[in-house]
Amino acid sequence: MKLAIINGPNLNLLGKREPGIYGDASFESFFEQLRAKFPEVHFDYFQSNIEGELVGALQQYGFETDGIILNPAAYTHTSVAIGDAIASIKTPVVEVHISNVHAREEFRKLSHVSAKAAGSIIGLGLKGYELAVHYLLDAKK
Ligand code: DQA
Repeated sequence: MKLAIINGPNLNLLGKREPGIYGDASFESFFEQLRAKFPEVHFDYFQSNIEGELVGALQQYGFETDGIILNPAAYTHTSVAIGDAIASIKTPVVEVHISNVHAREEFRKLSHVSAKAAGSIIGLGLKGYELAVHYLLDAKK
């Protein structure tokens, strides 16, 4: 089982960035725990602050993994290209948002990703990534 986690802009600052909203754990420390919980899964991790690089990663992992867990961060609300990339690939994509985007500013309610994703996990903190792994493991059976 091979899964890719793709994080968008500013998620490299998790732990330092607005901890009241995103928590105080870095993604790296969380990712270590996630790997330990699922020794049967081979994880690839990619983070970028650049929209085109995220499209490139979706195109690459979209034909060579069993699932993608994607938090496109702010590009969720603006990027037609990321939505189109998800529609163009074979691998199922689970959209994850750490914060509850529906309880925040109006502009965060629009997602160019949700309609193209297998499903979305929103507002459950970093736990959302773990729930997405469970879903993708079950979906593969
Ligand atoms: C986010 C929510 C987005 O609105 C925001 O731009 C982010 C992170 C989340 O995980 O809650 O950068 O995707």
